[in-house]
Amino acid sequence: MLPCQRHLFNLPKDIAYLNCAYLSPQLHRVSEAGHRSVAMKESPWLVKPSDFFENTEAVRGLFAQVVGTQADNIAIVPAVSYAMAVAAKNVLFSSGQRILVLSEQFPSNVYPWMELVKEYDAELVTVDAPEDRNWTQAILEKLDETIALVALPNCHWTDGSLIDLVKIGKQCRALQSALVIDATQSLGAWPLNVEEVQPDFLVAAGYKWMLGPYSLGYLYVAPKYHQGLPLEHNWISRKNSEDFAGLVNYREEFQDGARRFDVGERSNFTLMPMSREALSQILEWGVPNIAAAIGKLTELIAQRATDLGLYVTPNHLRATHMLGIHFPQGVPDTLTDQLVKNQIYVSVRGSSVRIAPHVYNTVDDVDRLFEVLQAVL
Ligand SMILES: Cc1ncc(COP(=O)(O)O)c(C=O)c1O
Repeated sequence: MLPCQRHLFNLPKDIAYLNCAYLSPQLHRVSEAGHRSVAMKESPWLVKPSDFFENTEAVRGLFAQVVGTQADNIAIVPAVSYAMAVAAKNVLFSSGQRILVLSEQFPSNVYPWMELVKEYDAELVTVDAPEDRNWTQAILEKLDETIALVALPNCHWTDGSLIDLVKIGKQCRALQSALVIDATQSLGAWPLNVEEVQPDFLVAAGYKWMLGPYSLGYLYVAPKYHQGLPLEHNWISRKNSEDFAGLVNYREEFQDGARRFDVGERSNFTLMPMSREALSQILEWGVPNIAAAIGKLTELIAQRATDLGLYVTPNHLRATHMLGIHFPQGVPDTLTDQLVKNQIYVSVRGSSVRIAPHVYNTVDDVDRLFEVLQAVL
């Protein structure tokens, strides 16, 4: 079992940070890479053309390892919304077809589809939240041949309740529906293999469970879309962009694989080395080990919440890295203030308090949380 890794982060002793689903704290090695790369631009004469490629290619390869695929299938994006715009531009969609999303799904994976259905005079189908949080069953019941696109997360962002993407992927293939995944709230802390799920597109923002900086995310693009069109036409995505002297020889051809979908200026000199460190750390720990270590804490939290008469999605229907505690009478008014006063950080989402620990948390953090919960009930 992975022991507590708090020493690798910049977390003061008196802070109980249980909010990785909001923003991860920063690993020392990620901060150090950022400081080095900020300083690098002070001496631009030392920046070589190869510096526009080297870290980006390394990051592509590391992310590919996290999701079990090849670097060729990965594009660099600034946000989930950008990735969804790439997907919306490239999936085959025609009028009268329908798109499926979940109730209260994160907006970056809803707005693009609201726009697409407007354009095609089509329909957005929302799966209502099932009482028992068995989303997989509820999705399968709604899936039929009229659904051309299924846009989902791996777990619900409000409370970690799971969607079985292998099962859904199989059904999508049987119905020839495209599958687009926003894995931001799970990737890095909950295993996912794209060869098993076979999504058309899958994206993760880098600043939560991937432990990286803000504004840099990763997009898996299935090979069948590799001849598709990017959102914008930047120079570095074109063939031979490594040859700076030859850039005025405009080219029709793109770089290989999913690289054509990279955002312009993707070789961000500050962010890319930070992402490289974050991804390396995740791979050194191993996602299954991260999930198991966090799972010990969430299991304890679930048990203690249930003992207090609060509701938590049953263990077999939720991912192990985060959970929502539902209050039958709504979240007590004083809870947020009391938590902040005691330097305990979680998020309130609707009628649930979302607890998102990571490998830097301890049982002591859980004890502190429950002291406050018990006091306000
Ligand atoms: C599930 C999920 N997806 C995406 C995002 C971020 O979206 P974007 O990168 O478009 O800002 C968040 C942020 O909280 C999220 O929870």
